[in-house]
Amino acid sequence: MYFNKYPHRANFSFVETFDSESGQVTAGRRVFSASVASHEGDVYHVRVSNPEVWAESCGLSQLDVPRRANRQRLKAGDDFELTLLGKDGKPLLTGRFGVSGEASMFLFELGGEARFYGMGEKLFNSVELSGYRTKFWNTDVWGDFHFGQWGDHPSDPPYFSLPYLIAKIGEEYVGLLLHNPYPTFMETPGTDESRVFVEWQRTSENLILGSEGGEPNLWVIYGPSLKELTRKFQNLIGTTPLPPAWSLGYHQSRWGYGGHDDLMRLDEAFTNNKIPCDGLWLDLDYMDGFRIFETNPKNFPEGVQATAESLAKHDRRIVPIIDPGVKYEPGYRVYDDGHQQGVFCRNQEGSEFVGLVWPGETVFPDFTEPKAREWWQGYVQEFAESGFAACWIDMNDPSTGPVDPSGMLFANGTVPHAAHHNDYSLGMQQATFEGFKRARPHERPFILSRSGFIGSSRYSAIWTGDNLANRFYLKSSIPTSINMSISGQPFHGADLGGFGGDVTDELMTDWMKAHFLSPFLRNHANRGTRDKEPYAFAEPLMSVLRRYIRLRYKLMPYLYNLFALHEEEGDPIVRPLFYEFDDAGLDKLNDQFLVGPSILQAPFVEEGAKKRSVILPGTEPWFDAATGEWLEPGTRTARAGKESTPLYIRSGAIIPMQPGTPTDNRKELREVNLHLFMPPAWSGDSWYEYRADDGISYAYANGARSVLDIRVAAVDGNLAIATELTEDGFGKIVPTFVIHGDPKTVRLNGAEVRLEKNKVTLTGKPLPVTVVG
Ligand code: GLC
Repeated sequence: MYFNKYPHRANFSFVETFDSESGQVTAGRRVFSASVASHEGDVYHVRVSNPEVWAESCGLSQLDVPRRANRQRLKAGDDFELTLLGKDGKPLLTGRFGVSGEASMFLFELGGEARFYGMGEKLFNSVELSGYRTKFWNTDVWGDFHFGQWGDHPSDPPYFSLPYLIAKIGEEYVGLLLHNPYPTFMETPGTDESRVFVEWQRTSENLILGSEGGEPNLWVIYGPSLKELTRKFQNLIGTTPLPPAWSLGYHQSRWGYGGHDDLMRLDEAFTNNKIPCDGLWLDLDYMDGFRIFETNPKNFPEGVQATAESLAKHDRRIVPIIDPGVKYEPGYRVYDDGHQQGVFCRNQEGSEFVGLVWPGETVFPDFTEPKAREWWQGYVQEFAESGFAACWIDMNDPSTGPVDPSGMLFANGTVPHAAHHNDYSLGMQQATFEGFKRARPHERPFILSRSGFIGSSRYSAIWTGDNLANRFYLKSSIPTSINMSISGQPFHGADLGGFGGDVTDELMTDWMKAHFLSPFLRNHANRGTRDKEPYAFAEPLMSVLRRYIRLRYKLMPYLYNLFALHEEEGDPIVRPLFYEFDDAGLDKLNDQFLVGPSILQAPFVEEGAKKRSVILPGTEPWFDAATGEWLEPGTRTARAGKESTPLYIRSGAIIPMQPGTPTDNRKELREVNLHLFMPPAWSGDSWYEYRADDGISYAYANGARSVLDIRVAAVDGNLAIATELTEDGFGKIVPTFVIHGDPKTVRLNGAEVRLEKNKVTLTGKPLPVTVVG
């Protein structure tokens, strides 16, 4: 696989004739069937097939396709020219289809000025993606590239492939998905001269989306807004089911924690330092000689269950790593069993394909086969029952070490590697998810995976793999998070502070402040690197790190509700500012983002910066969470503070928080503080629907959920709040209103109420609030 070589359009034959009656197109010397199917919501499926060229398969990822519809916004003309019409009936995109052997390409002309976003996980340092050529092929970055390529600039492709592109043409958003697990590629027009050293590095003036093999299945989704587009797209590929609340807590990991003793030491340190921490993670060290599903008994003298029970006293859970590679060792029960049942991938000679991973020679379960997934589930079930709460699946790119993976075949040696390289990890996620469900049918599983594909959103959170403790990785983590969020993988995060290398005090603080609300938050470190647990840093840094972990737990009801809403609607947790606001130029911001609709972060990412500029969008003032000031929208200057970070809250926002300052893992969702942010002499209204459930089981889906509807209306600072418990399946919700602002009068459900003055600390000094109990 060449990462940096792309098929060129001149080597393709484009369709010359299209018979719309028979649906046949001719391209070069071959004839294909071609169709455009229209589905509800302006979702279109363009399919070109010819069983002699491509097997009929989109791999393991299933789409939830909306019903057929008659809308004809996307039309195929005489030579199968695809035209997508915009609001005013003018073409937004016109595209031609071409083939070159097994490769295929859609070549689009754009009907106006275009900007690009999405592309799933890319470690590029900008949100906007004009002028890129990129491939989608899951890689083990540290294994497949030389250090010089990933030390401190983008290496591409990374671990996780989601071949989806968002084009904003004029003011309308269009999504393009290549539903094909084969290696795919994209090229966006653009003129970023800084990336053009020689002329041929300039990208095409056309937009190109193509595949190196596999049946071409292109999905075209019309927004027109980014929010509408994202919802449609997320529902097509699958929303993320509501995760267990504990998975949204803080997680502590390190390559080097071995077992019981280390876990108890961590438990004690987090408890003594009053730092919440839900997940304690085990890397390879807990295994017996890198054998998966074999826990070294020396590391757990009384068994995993005993340790799990001790940790449960403080509400902590153990999350171990599992790799797909099974040690190739006759006599090892997992190998013997898999061998006997014939579940491992084969090579061209028909024997088991062998790669070189942690244990040395390894074989790989063929996750594309139901039989192998079933087999894997059994081991996961046993593993979960032994005391592990969740699981971290790694190296599923699949990494085969220095061995060329192209010899790793699927379906008993009959299907080429390229056909499933990109969705191998999806099969592993499915099987692991099901294994946990088998062990604990009523509990929502939690899985973290390194690689993934279209539809991984249904099973797994994704972390962005091996990053480094440097400024490049901190900076690029923001555009990466934004683009993953709008590409259908909302549950993700980067290793906090960087996995490789020794983090400096300043970088650790900046990283924590930037990402303390990341959808997934795990502090992980390579072996041999500096200790990085929050309490390993000397004061005053330790208290700053702790403050932000506690603030995450304070905001847990907000985060959890964002996930609940995501499952229902499809909106991501992290959002670019242009998801909610139309101001010009917002897509040039690579260091600002929203968490949900109401929290805006503009963290410090440059080394030693004392101040930075912040764009506050829209027309209403923003609340500065550090100072309590209300700031008019526009360009502002934020000054660096030891404890504070630039974080702003939208006018009229209602944000549910836990009461007080959380010092442990408690997540009381029913007793909630509803913080209302009202600017001085505010006239306006606002609405929020707050959900509470048990945070762990599926009972919420069968009615065991309570929903509180909150409506707020203000006239010149006189506030009326109305609440209604619209669902009570999880009992009563007891709200306390905490008002940031100075209301003249407050009426709650029609009655005037007593107001109490108090103080609340968010990112800076204690702020005065008015409490309505
Ligand atoms: C890979 C993972 C990393 C893990 C290491 C050892 O590099 O990406 O997170 O610590 O393997 O298992």
